[in-house]
Amino acid sequence: MNTLTKAGPAAAPQETATLQTKATAAAAHTAQVAPFIATTNLRKSFQMGPTMVHALAGVNMTIEGGTFQAIMGPSGSGKSTLLYLLGGLDRPTAGHIIVGGHEIDKLDENALAAYRRRFIGFVFQSFNLIPSLSAWENVAFPMRFAGISRRERQKRAFALLERVGLADRRSHKPTELSGGQQQRVAIARSLVNEPRLVLADEPTGNLDTASGQSIMELLAELHRDGRTILVVTHDPRMAAYATHQIFLLDGRVVSEEIYREGTELAHAPTPS
Ligand SMILES: Nc1ncnc2c1ncn2[C@@H]1O[C@H](COP(=O)(O)OP(=O)(O)O)[C@@H](O)[C@H]1O
Ligand SMILES: [Mg+2]
Repeated sequence: MNTLTKAGPAAAPQETATLQTKATAAAAHTAQVAPFIATTNLRKSFQMGPTMVHALAGVNMTIEGGTFQAIMGPSGSGKSTLLYLLGGLDRPTAGHIIVGGHEIDKLDENALAAYRRRFIGFVFQSFNLIPSLSAWENVAFPMRFAGISRRERQKRAFALLERVGLADRRSHKPTELSGGQQQRVAIARSLVNEPRLVLADEPTGNLDTASGQSIMELLAELHRDGRTILVVTHDPRMAAYATHQIFLLDGRVVSEEIYREGTELAHAPTPS
């Protein structure tokens, strides 16, 4: 049984429908169907003392809904920045982002918070669980502020933990769980609001190979359930679980060929 379909409230169907209709109407005379994600000339710069760091230097990309994308790139290439901007955790310096019909660079703070809550599930490398809470309390935590009764929160959290294969660990604290199990709890928590888009920033980075593979298999299952999944990874074995790959170099999306050339040059032995 797919417990996910019962686990959360529907994602603001009316608001989403209105915004999508607008975006679709606008795109109708240029393209057949609007992509689920589109960025144009997306830039993010950080002032660091006297220098300006261009974390994203003009990203133009489209991502179809229902795909499972691996984002690959060397350290510092802008992977996390891209994920944060798509998830509405940070704002671009310039450029535009459309996700599911929402022009998120144009949303005010309240609307951006609503977008994060209704649309996005975020998974981090370091799990970010609250140590004093049990597995199910961690999963239920984001529902605390949504006017849902404790009984109902618990019911949904149990269902989500069952979904990620942790029904028998629901009363364990994070320190009583393995790294792979903690990441499963974090994934269950990311699903409480039935997000259409799951963004995972190196979710297997702190895990051994076997645990990492089982996390990628879980993300692949969420993809098969109809979600769009973007996962940042350094590891080609993990990227192999995805249906598509995006390559970043120096804040830009590049082709696989240019990426291979760029990263091979970086790893070539330097003459002494
Ligand atoms: N909050 C920040 N302040 C200053 N510089 C940052 C900040 N976030 C990221 N950067 C810089 O932007 C670049 C891209 O960072 P990031 O997106 O974290 O790369 P990646 O995730 O690919 O390792 C790096 O040079 C990083 O130092
Ligand atoms: Mg990063």
